[in-house]
Amino acid sequence: MPVNLPPPSDDVPVLQVDPFDVAVLRDPYPFFKALREAGPVAWLAPYGIYATGRHSEATTVLSRWQQFTNAGGAGLADIRKPGNWRPASVILEVDPPAHTAVRGALQKILSPIVVRQWREKFQAEAEAMADQLVARGRFDGMRDAAEAFVLQVFPPAVGIRIPRENAQAIGDMNFNAIGPNNELTKAAVARAQPYMQWYEDSMKREAMLPGGFGELIHQAEDAGALQKGFAANLTRSFLRGGMDTTISGIGSALLALARDPAQWDLLRADPALVRNAFDEAIRHESPVQVMFRTTCEGAELGGVALAPDIKIAAFMGAANRDTRQWPDADRFDLRRPVAGQHLAFGSGPHVCIGQMIARLEAECLIGALARRVKRLRLAGEPVYRPVNTLRTLDSLPLEVEAG
Ligand code: HEM
Repeated sequence: MPVNLPPPSDDVPVLQVDPFDVAVLRDPYPFFKALREAGPVAWLAPYGIYATGRHSEATTVLSRWQQFTNAGGAGLADIRKPGNWRPASVILEVDPPAHTAVRGALQKILSPIVVRQWREKFQAEAEAMADQLVARGRFDGMRDAAEAFVLQVFPPAVGIRIPRENAQAIGDMNFNAIGPNNELTKAAVARAQPYMQWYEDSMKREAMLPGGFGELIHQAEDAGALQKGFAANLTRSFLRGGMDTTISGIGSALLALARDPAQWDLLRADPALVRNAFDEAIRHESPVQVMFRTTCEGAELGGVALAPDIKIAAFMGAANRDTRQWPDADRFDLRRPVAGQHLAFGSGPHVCIGQMIARLEAECLIGALARRVKRLRLAGEPVYRPVNTLRTLDSLPLEVEAG
């Protein structure tokens, strides 16, 4: 249960809100506004941590690793402290220079040439799925489109086949556990239990489907480019980082486009806008809502000196709606120049390494629909699924008119 912990100094505004309360997760925007308005940095009393929701300060927290370390883990709990220990991600939960070596090896695997090889396959799957969705006329934009498509193309690209039940249980466990150990996390951990052995075994070299990123990662370990024992951990980071996030992002794009027929018409008139439409969708509804760092000696934010060894939450979901950065920030506008500026993919040394894969998936599916669908409409109320650190729809009833 959240408690009420006093701030280490008087110059930080205090917020009593629990951002991981189900009601806040269902509609986080009033909390995000309060966080931004409180100041460049605030104290979240229920958890005894710092937090920021402004674009400039969130960028600083995510990128200035000398003051905001990842060594304590990217989640709310400090994994170096007793009771919280778990094995760290060997890419996300280390600082440079150790991080730089691992990232360099992975960057080679995710080279534009390798990524391009997947385009044809993703495109063919997207065309077939769009044909089938248009023939149905009515479908669920999450279960039948975003989720079905990503699960069909992404895990096999990593080298894994994952049944839908396993995928959602494991994804919800991961993105809840980055936040507090509340009821959502406990329920998600319990639900994922039956799949954990399967999950562990799926990352092993002998389980990899040939030709996927996972195989290349294991080969890099064999060649000495990665430390012994890192490949399974990194394959897991790929799957974990790329599955639920991309499903969420494609779902948000479909929702935004279904809500605003003029935006759909713009996309149909200029198909090249599909790329920006996806970036704008993940600015507008950031799949990863928050990531954490730990303050180091001398950390400072927006002119406020911070006490060391305390967790700090960078709310990307709030920063991506900061009107200091984006005029009319609550509005979805696919012509808004956002790529490279929004924080949905993070910022600094840990900025998402798989972003071109996510963009490729989104471009293929949304592009294939735009070529076939004259009218995209909501056929019912969209429903969000509360997950501590992920903004994701659970269902999105859609209706399409071919043309
Ligand atoms: C819309 C889809 C995606 C979103 C919103 C997203 C978001 C993010 C964010 C916010 C970070 C930085 C976390 C931090 O700084 O604490 C990150 C890092 C990462 N992402 Fe993604 N991601 C997406 C897709 C993918 C895909 C498709 C992959 C795999 C191919 C992937 C793999 C990773 C990995 C391995 C990292 C860690 C990088 C590092 O620590 O250097 N992500 N992602």
